[in-house]
Amino acid sequence: MKSFSIAAALLAATATAAPAAIKRQADFSPDGNYFPLSNGFPNPSPDQILKIQKQAFGTLPNGPPPPSISDDTKTSLKLIALNELFEVAFFTELLYNVTNKVHGYDIGYGHDYVLHALSAIIAQEELHALNANGALKNFGEEPIQPCKYTFPVTDFPAAIGLAATFTDVVLGTLQDVQFDAANNKDAGIVRSVGSVIGQEGEQEGFFRLILKKNPSALPFLTTSVRDFAFTAIQGFTIPGSCPNINTIPLQTFGALTVLTNPVEPKTQNLEFSISKSQLNSTKYDDFSVVYINQQNLPVVKAIQNPHWKHDTLVFEAGFPFDEFEMNGLTIAAVVEGKGPFATADDVAKVAKFGPGLIEIN
Ligand SMILES: *[C@@H]1O[C@H](CO)[C@@H](O)[C@H](O)[C@H]1NC(C)=O
Ligand SMILES: *[C@@H]1O[C@H](CO)[C@@H](O)[C@H](O)[C@H]1NC(C)=O
Repeated sequence: MKSFSIAAALLAATATAAPAAIKRQADFSPDGNYFPLSNGFPNPSPDQILKIQKQAFGTLPNGPPPPSISDDTKTSLKLIALNELFEVAFFTELLYNVTNKVHGYDIGYGHDYVLHALSAIIAQEELHALNANGALKNFGEEPIQPCKYTFPVTDFPAAIGLAATFTDVVLGTLQDVQFDAANNKDAGIVRSVGSVIGQEGEQEGFFRLILKKNPSALPFLTTSVRDFAFTAIQGFTIPGSCPNINTIPLQTFGALTVLTNPVEPKTQNLEFSISKSQLNSTKYDDFSVVYINQQNLPVVKAIQNPHWKHDTLVFEAGFPFDEFEMNGLTIAAVVEGKGPFATADDVAKVAKFGPGLIEIN
């Protein structure tokens, strides 16, 4: 039972890692600059790509690309590139923090196993990014360039918790990418996107093991929509630092903060907030909260007890955990109207704020 002893070691380590209260300047990324990496990424030479492939234990797909793809699928590839660049920045800094036992990242006995796993994850994410940007170039589009980033974590458990959450968003969003490709008759990308979904799912199982959770969260993973991922990624970028994010024709919603933390696995009211400035002068009487979880119909709940607190509107909405067994990732959104909604896409069409990301179990 090798995996069990590794898990036990990791778990012991996460329990004792000291929480760091104050966000300090990261040594690895002065002023939010992460790129280029020492291996040339995001523009490695052919020799550097060979080294990345060794570190990733595998290669870029070497078959010919499809003869053509739709504009909408180009949008999906741009989003994938934007996301993978952000993930490479995150995991590269995480590896640096663990390697250097930065305060909050001295994980003790599980150290070598985690370093080994992170090193593979980084190179695999680099190849995902190079694959998406390579396809964009092939179809005459500008490759997506990295942004400057800032991550709201200062210890190992919080970093892994964040990785598990954004990976869950990716696992939901790649479902949307496949659905859109099917709609656009772009069968040529479905297989490779499917291979990445499985790959990210393997990573998710590793993160969940570290967090002392069941490796597999749900029978049917929560779906998402590209616009939600697009908005969520921008939560980690320094505003104005993304050189060509404007070439990605997706929606950015206002920020929705889930104030209830942690969210316990029970039926309850959750508290949320949105900022007055993003509300503009819009009336909120007609707004509802919608939850997207698993492959179920979106759940619509009324806004309760809205009140102003400084520059934010704070409100509650029922969270029917018991009725729908709402484990894993739930995506919350504030929408105009009351639905009902048949799909997550229908929610995104009228969403104003979101995604609020809730993780249970
Ligand atoms: C690495 O550690 C620094 C310093 O605590 C922190 O600011 C940064 O967010 C950490 N990065 C990751 C990915 O954990
Ligand atoms: C507030 O204004 C911005 C910019 O015009 C717009 O994108 C956003 O949807 C507005 N917010 C609401 C809640 O209507």
